[in-house]
Amino acid sequence: MTKTDIAPQNAPKRVFIKTYGCQMNVYDSDRMADALAPHGYMPTQELGEADLVLLNTCHIREKASEKVFSELGRLKEVQGERRAAGADMMIGVAGCVAQAEGEEIARRAPMVDMVFGPQAYHRLPDMLARAQAQRHLHPSLKKAVVDTDFPEEDKFAHLPAAKKEVTIKRGLTAFLTVQEGCDKFCSFCVVPYTRGAEVSRPVAQVLAEARGLVEAGVKEITLLGQNVNAYHGVDAAGRSVGLGELAYLLAEITGLERLRYTTSHPRDMDDALIAAHRDLPLLMPYLHLPVQSGSDRILKAMNRKHTAAEYLALIERIKTARPDMALSGDFIVGFPGETDQDFEDTLSIIRQTGYASAYSFKYSTRPGTPGANLTGQIAEEVKTERLYRLQELVNQQTTDFHASCVGKTMPVLIERVGRMPGQVGGRSPYLQAVHLEGSTDLIGAIHEVEIVGTSTNSLVGRLKQAVAA
Ligand code: 5AD
Ligand code: SF4
Repeated sequence: MTKTDIAPQNAPKRVFIKTYGCQMNVYDSDRMADALAPHGYMPTQELGEADLVLLNTCHIREKASEKVFSELGRLKEVQGERRAAGADMMIGVAGCVAQAEGEEIARRAPMVDMVFGPQAYHRLPDMLARAQAQRHLHPSLKKAVVDTDFPEEDKFAHLPAAKKEVTIKRGLTAFLTVQEGCDKFCSFCVVPYTRGAEVSRPVAQVLAEARGLVEAGVKEITLLGQNVNAYHGVDAAGRSVGLGELAYLLAEITGLERLRYTTSHPRDMDDALIAAHRDLPLLMPYLHLPVQSGSDRILKAMNRKHTAAEYLALIERIKTARPDMALSGDFIVGFPGETDQDFEDTLSIIRQTGYASAYSFKYSTRPGTPGANLTGQIAEEVKTERLYRLQELVNQQTTDFHASCVGKTMPVLIERVGRMPGQVGGRSPYLQAVHLEGSTDLIGAIHEVEIVGTSTNSLVGRLKQAVAA
């Protein structure tokens, strides 16, 4: 028997993972890939060669949820083609749509083999084995494996930590989930239902994963959590440690040069975290701090638990601690009952805060949330018009922010070759893409770069001097 005869049998199986939604899903998808690797599944970008397809879904707005069912329609065809060619393709639906609509997916899409929520990822190999055991059953007897429980056990304790291979694939920056779930219950939001109650990973687990990433070459870590600044992990002494204190501990890791975190709630920006921004140069001066609306009436109806004035006062305190702080935010237009005046108040808070960037959305009714039962739903045309006006304002602010960087010198983490020959590209402290002339030797370190111009969505820089080798 020649080598080529054996190869197909020994060839690894392939898993194709498609990720929707937030960075937390990106992190989770990588952990699922890590959990499958010891069982012979290697990641692929080619759907046509996949033995297993996982959709890691998002339920935050209606449009995001709908994508799952249209994608499943497409997959059914590919699955049919694979089977006609004598191969197979198992399909799993993971993430927040799976959590919210588990049985419904199994019913509407019978070709799906597994449906499982974000708390079940460490059981994926076991689910896969159970689904495979049904493979040879008559289709009428097959039943999707559904796992949407919120188990007591800690999924992070069972999932493999971020591994070297994964890190290399992602380069110099990495995500690290420190907290999951949310207890805030904003009235528009499904997260408390799909991700469950707030859970924080223990300090030692976070530090160990961060050290592993840095050893593998990561220079910048973004701590993730649905409500990341509500982090309260236990340390070895059984004490509760907040995100501010965690930042000081992470700052001691030699080789870690930049730290970010997302997403935060204004109510959880405590003094310790603000002090960390004052004291720690590695904590980047760019903060995603959503306010959603500038109207106190709407903020109350959204159950945000703070007023517009309190948000503005908080921004002042943060900027006093870290004067070069830039902000990004999230906004919802057309929440039930939103009047023209409420919307003007939102534009007003945007003008007063001044954002470097912002994400904005039309309110989307989510079944099961308190917002779904409110009267005064806003007409689609009104939402569209308000979204347009809001985006015009924040786009102008983003343009102004980019322009205000011209003439400044800032540290840029050079991450890759540039778009043009002879160019390299990286990120400013404010997550702006920066392009500059320079050799590929610059890649992998932070360099001082003078910003000399702007182009669409990026900055043009000129190398000043190397800071770190
Ligand atoms: N409709 C519109 N936008 C929403 N978001 C969350 N839920 C909804 C909803 N039902 C937005 C919020 C949040 C971001 C992640 O998504 O702005 O901060
Ligand atoms: Fe959703 Fe509000 Fe929790 Fe953010 S803080 S995840 S918007 S409920």
